[in-house]
Amino acid sequence: MQAETMNTSLCSAGYDSLLEVMRRRRSIRSFRPDPVPDGLVDRILEAARWAPSAGNRQAHRFLVVTSREKIGAMAQAVEAATQRLADHLRADLAEQVASYLANFRHFVGAPVVLVAIYRTGFDLLRAVTPSGSAGELPGAKPVVDALASVSAAIMNLLLAAHVLGLGACWMTGPLVAAGELMAILEVPRGWEIAALVPVGFPAETPPATPRRTLDQLVRRID
Ligand SMILES: Cc1cc2nc3c(=O)[nH]c(=O)nc-3n(C[C@H](O)[C@H](O)[C@H](O)COP(=O)(O)O)c2cc1C
Repeated sequence: MQAETMNTSLCSAGYDSLLEVMRRRRSIRSFRPDPVPDGLVDRILEAARWAPSAGNRQAHRFLVVTSREKIGAMAQAVEAATQRLADHLRADLAEQVASYLANFRHFVGAPVVLVAIYRTGFDLLRAVTPSGSAGELPGAKPVVDALASVSAAIMNLLLAAHVLGLGACWMTGPLVAAGELMAILEVPRGWEIAALVPVGFPAETPPATPRRTLDQLVRRID
């Protein structure tokens, strides 16, 4: 076999197995009560550690919450905030939105809840302009690098959880109670919660959710 052909087939095998992992991962919303060994949690966090980040700043952290008391308090705060929201829904959308809101609280059943936080307040454009005047620059956009970077880390950990036989779900719905969650978890000033990621052994095997075709997703500019 020519070296080039061999490399291509090696790449292809790597691609196939990577894609298979991506295609088989599901959001898991129901968990067995079994605890997750610390070693497995560490392994998924290790995968998160290797994600790219803007300027390699790694301006994010993970809180690993296993305290039933804390997880219960978090769920109660989300329940209350969700209820307040449900009381103010547009009548024509109430039913549709209510079923969406139902998906904000299932993290309560997970043995571990990872909370991804990111540092706010660093804005590259502001940092490089005198007197932080970037906001007035034509075309200047708010910088969301820290949130984008923590999101890359979350994706890494979801894939790692999946290959280790764990289930997980990326959740931003609970952030309806962001303020209360930050107080419960004592998130320091200058940091925000990006997402909650409940992790545990799956108690369900959901079917694949549909995806748009490449034609729908891609516009080529040649
Ligand atoms: C940014 C983000 C926020 C999400 N928030 C929630 C959530 O609050 N509750 C939930 O049940 N699922 C949430 N999900 C999971 C999506 O519903 C799920 O990824 C999507 O339906 C596709 O299903 P799959 O992950 O099984 O492929 C979220 C996903 C992302 C990327």
